[in-house]
Amino acid sequence: MAKTQTKTGGAAKALLATAVTLLAAATAADARSACEYVPIHRILASAGGVYKFADGRQLKARKVSVGGCSTMPALPSGIAYPDTNSNYTVMSHESDACITGTGRDGSTPTYAGFQAIVIEANGFKFSADLVLEDIDAQPVADPTQGWRETMSSLAMADGAVVRPSMTTKPGSLVAVQPFRVPRASLQEVGFPSSDDLLISGAAYSSWTETKNCPFMNDTMGQCKAFVSYPTPVDRLLIIYAITQKSANDPNAAAFFSEVTLACGCQCAEKPGASEMTVPVHGSAGTCKTVPSKSPAYRCDFMGNFWCETAEKTRWEMTGRSGACALVSSTIQKPVSSYTPDSKFGKLPEP
Ligand SMILES: *[C@@H]1O[C@H](CO)[C@@H](O)[C@H](O)[C@H]1NC(C)=O
Ligand SMILES: *[C@@H]1O[C@H](CO)[C@@H](O)[C@H](O)[C@H]1NC(C)=O
Repeated sequence: MAKTQTKTGGAAKALLATAVTLLAAATAADARSACEYVPIHRILASAGGVYKFADGRQLKARKVSVGGCSTMPALPSGIAYPDTNSNYTVMSHESDACITGTGRDGSTPTYAGFQAIVIEANGFKFSADLVLEDIDAQPVADPTQGWRETMSSLAMADGAVVRPSMTTKPGSLVAVQPFRVPRASLQEVGFPSSDDLLISGAAYSSWTETKNCPFMNDTMGQCKAFVSYPTPVDRLLIIYAITQKSANDPNAAAFFSEVTLACGCQCAEKPGASEMTVPVHGSAGTCKTVPSKSPAYRCDFMGNFWCETAEKTRWEMTGRSGACALVSSTIQKPVSSYTPDSKFGKLPEP
């Protein structure tokens, strides 16, 4: 679920009933605000690898076989599974160059070779959620003899690395653990770094059970990791590898979900001096209007910003003599500039 489905707090909820008309007015003003999601295979299958949302924003995506880690020809990374209507995108391997090590001996497993998908935004930043799925193990009797999968994600905002929150469900067979990513591998996916990075990765972790999780029927989330970027990013990386080589099965595949973007719109600063209503000290239920310290934003398809929708409580005048009440309203919060490049995704002229 997208984190933008913000819950209204208890106090605000109590007051909400008295402010229904005001709230409806605020929501109508934000009618252009859209909530979008996209399965990544759909970006990869778009002309030139560029996908356009109904609101005009563009994302592009590319696949990279990093450090010689190749994909499975019969089920290559980046395709839709089980069909093109699905939200799921395949990640697969078929190479010894995709092995990170398990870290069981106390060493840090390393994403030197891995399958990668890199997604870039055209002139805006976005908050996003996605689910890494089917991170499982070869069902063999001896857990040290089968492949074991791992997936991760990392992002950037204006060239600086952004780490997501990554969580698993209670009772999961997958754990979040540290992985090293060498500088050279980061270079290959367009994540310039002056040093190797330590990042979190989700890896199959049980040494007592070897489970091949049923894809799309993992209701307990035993083989899933939930990834969230609450801080907007402009470049997103998805990583797939295995932590341990199989004695007899050279390939495996996992999947990841659609990417859900926070709700928002192209926006601009509201013209004119903005005002705000503040309670009068020592006079309960009455307010006064004062100049606002920070500008307010509204949806505007000519605007130079991208806004994300947020819930806020504020004081609203309800009658004469300064009578006021606390109301809940939807506001637009600028999260980045909106400066799309018309040449985005175009190949350089020969
Ligand atoms: C894909 O994901 C979206 C958003 O989470 C959901 O509304 C839709 O029903 C999903 N489609 C399929 C085919 O599962
Ligand atoms: C999903 O798993 C449950 C429990 O293992 C099983 O009973 C059910 O038949 C499965 N559903 C599908 C569609 O495979």
